[in-house]
Amino acid sequence: MQTITKTTLPEIKTALPGPRAKEILNRDAKYISPSYTRSYPLVVQRGYGAILEDVDGNTFLDFNAGVAVAALGHAHPEIVEVIERQAHEFVHISGTDYYYPHQTALAEKLIQVTPGSFAKKVHYSNSGAEAMEAALKTAIYSTGRDKFIAFRGAFHGRTFGTLSLTASRAAQRRGFGPQTLDVTHVPFANPIRFPLERRAAESVGRRVARYIEQTIFKTTVAPEDCAAIVVEPVQGEGGYVVPPIDFLPELRRICDEHGIALIVDEVQSGMGRTGKLWAIEHFGVAPDIMCMAKAIGGGLPLGVTLAREDLMRWHVGAHASTFGGNPVAIAAGLKTLEVLERGVMKNAADMGAYMMERLRRLQDRLSPIAEVRGLGLMIGVEISRDREASDPWTELRDKIVIDCFNRGLVIQGAGESAVRFSPPLIVDREQVDFAVSTFEAALRDATK
Ligand SMILES: Cc1ncc(COP(=O)(O)O)c(C=O)c1O
Repeated sequence: MQTITKTTLPEIKTALPGPRAKEILNRDAKYISPSYTRSYPLVVQRGYGAILEDVDGNTFLDFNAGVAVAALGHAHPEIVEVIERQAHEFVHISGTDYYYPHQTALAEKLIQVTPGSFAKKVHYSNSGAEAMEAALKTAIYSTGRDKFIAFRGAFHGRTFGTLSLTASRAAQRRGFGPQTLDVTHVPFANPIRFPLERRAAESVGRRVARYIEQTIFKTTVAPEDCAAIVVEPVQGEGGYVVPPIDFLPELRRICDEHGIALIVDEVQSGMGRTGKLWAIEHFGVAPDIMCMAKAIGGGLPLGVTLAREDLMRWHVGAHASTFGGNPVAIAAGLKTLEVLERGVMKNAADMGAYMMERLRRLQDRLSPIAEVRGLGLMIGVEISRDREASDPWTELRDKIVIDCFNRGLVIQGAGESAVRFSPPLIVDREQVDFAVSTFEAALRDATK
């Protein structure tokens, strides 16, 4: 095996894309589905910690973590070790037809570490969308109802069921005809560009609750027909939007009053990203159904739907997937949880606070930064033509993202005009400093 020199900060050695990257991009354009959403030509050879190395030997600082998946960074030695060990034991057996010890062990562990002291059950799948599909089916089956309420800006996946909930970009639905499920979208409790008139001193969280109760329940979705309210505790693809503290408790209250299931999608916000294991813990609410994916498989595909036991009571054969709960992914998931609890989550909280403070100082100096928001290392920066964030500056955001890549910082956009930072949770101060300075330089250059 080739020995590699490991660094903690990036270095760009060739024009981008480099010659080997160019060759792969040409072949990719010929063979790979054009529906993929690539923003810039990063062709990865390997990763370690928060560093990615491309096929031409350039190194990048990864502040996206493979879209919030690599919580412990790339090639974490303990994750690599459990994956190797489990691969030697068995790679697949199908947990829907047979049993293996760690499939049960991860379910037990998740039941202990999720909010709510009631009995719970776990269903395994392979992705975020699949975890959501299982949640939707659980809600329909258990309530006998078939309507849903979801939020503008939401992203829950692109399968036909989840696409009905997703409302973060029109492109996701364009060309796919009528939606499969009956979903009514209401505004998310996003303080910026909030579309509803408010009473004096009424919070956006309370206003959304009043809109559901006084408008939606009376006009389109009778509460007794509503199976579930589906929500991301911090909106992900919608722009890393943190709702005010009363929003999720208000949804919980509405659900309790009407026998509606509260489905919380922790696919992007979970697994320590916000400095707590689950983002919902910041709001003191216990969901009826929780969905997890992304970081939970330690980089391997794994989806989890965890529901109150009295909701997940369905007949044999009602729902399952051959690969759901793959043994290697589960072994990596158990190890990921263990490492997170050993201090990585605290690092996410500390580094997140440090990064937010540095970004807020930038906001004072650079007018296109209209808002800096986030929890832990789930941080969004709103780029706008005005200080009130009412005029989203999408082109500038896109330019910044590409320019950061050219300077060795891997980030992505989210929502209409936000830059999102979702690094591995193991980043240190020096790496945060590099990310903020690079972002600053890119923004300054783009507005020259
Ligand atoms: C909150 C949320 N839910 C669901 C999904 C869908 O997950 P997947 O892409 O694994 O299907 C995503 C993906 O970005 C997500 O962010």
